[in-house]
Amino acid sequence: MILVTGGAGFIGANFVHFWLERTGEAVVNLDLLTYAGNPDNLADLRGDGRHVLVQGDVADRELVRELLARHRPRAVIHFAAESHVDRSILGPGAFIQTNVVGTFHLLEMVREYWSTLPESVYDQGATQRDFRFLHVSTDEVYGSLAPQDPPFAETNPYQPNSPYAASKAASDHLIRAWHHTFGLPVLTTNCSNNYGPYQFPEKLIPLVIHHALAGKPLPIYGDGQQVRDWLYVEDHCLAIMRVLEAGRVGETYNIGGWNEQANLNVVRTICGVLDALQPRMDGRGYAEQITFVRDRPGHDRRYAIDARKIEAELGWKPRETFESGILKTVRWYLQHAEWVSGVTSGAYRQWVDRQYGGPG
Ligand SMILES: NC(=O)c1ccc[n+]([C@@H]2O[C@H](COP(=O)([O-])OP(=O)(O)OC[C@H]3O[C@@H](n4cnc5c(N)ncnc54)[C@H](O)[C@@H]3O)[C@@H](O)[C@H]2O)c1
Repeated sequence: MILVTGGAGFIGANFVHFWLERTGEAVVNLDLLTYAGNPDNLADLRGDGRHVLVQGDVADRELVRELLARHRPRAVIHFAAESHVDRSILGPGAFIQTNVVGTFHLLEMVREYWSTLPESVYDQGATQRDFRFLHVSTDEVYGSLAPQDPPFAETNPYQPNSPYAASKAASDHLIRAWHHTFGLPVLTTNCSNNYGPYQFPEKLIPLVIHHALAGKPLPIYGDGQQVRDWLYVEDHCLAIMRVLEAGRVGETYNIGGWNEQANLNVVRTICGVLDALQPRMDGRGYAEQITFVRDRPGHDRRYAIDARKIEAELGWKPRETFESGILKTVRWYLQHAEWVSGVTSGAYRQWVDRQYGGPG
């Protein structure tokens, strides 16, 4: 049994599916079901006894204590977070609350649970020696690179620039300290930008697909030359599984696809795939919908990941190229139009208005 937090969100839902397919091992999924968490992402698992979805906050100590005591997981994988940079500029409070305070409360409850486990050799089930807390983090903690800089290695200093990145950096430091101070067996992964099925259409790739099909402008911040390293979400899930299985306790692992792309290029690639799969009625290209808009304040120029550590130590390599991953992703969104309209309607709007005091 493992416990995941945030398993109804984009990466978490992909991970739950991936995990059950690969291992069959049961998953308890603690998720607050914010606007980004959607039980429909897990609809095919309804009635599957290997998956339990619990709606709740990682900061709710009593709930976390009770879940750990009842299910006795051998590992906790912590995905839950506020994750959208633009929202962190509009309303940083929720980011500090979940990503920093929430992670603190979760860590404390996990530490308490871990200290009650038998040290080693147990019939079956969790032991202190084999228990792992895996914290899922981002490459944004390292700040921004100049064009000539080498990609981020695990030894790069932390220089977070957005409230989102700062909140994730703070949580990474808590994880590190709980290992050094209390001996909690932790692992941290810092991954580049993910894309794939179930990604909320406020993020670049699903947003572009959604707007293109709706005939809306495709907004590009600034000059569109901000560079990101893109990784297909299933490759991220595979990396997390490898780190959980074989990563060295207390270490951090950078995960990336060696795939640097300027945002404008990403958008043009999507337009090309859509032109081929679902051409516009008027016969013109989707790229005509590209519109340049004012840049995001403090927008980082370039992120790139040096993934040599996880490749050399754990034998992980991404399976998808950018072209194959984008093709799979566009196909998925074309086949799941009802999913997109579901997540962008009613409940989502209300939540955004409550949380951020206005449209998102
Ligand atoms: N998306 C990326 O490109 C990317 C890249 C690297 C790392 N990450 C990290 O991976 C993790 C997952 O990212 P994502 O893109 O799937 O995010 P997401 O926003 O799609 O999902 C986050 C999930 O966490 C849940 N959640 C939020 N607050 C919670 C709380 N207080 N208690 C319990 N659940 C809560 C939400 O309901 C949602 O299901 C995050 O920690 C993020 O920082 C994301």
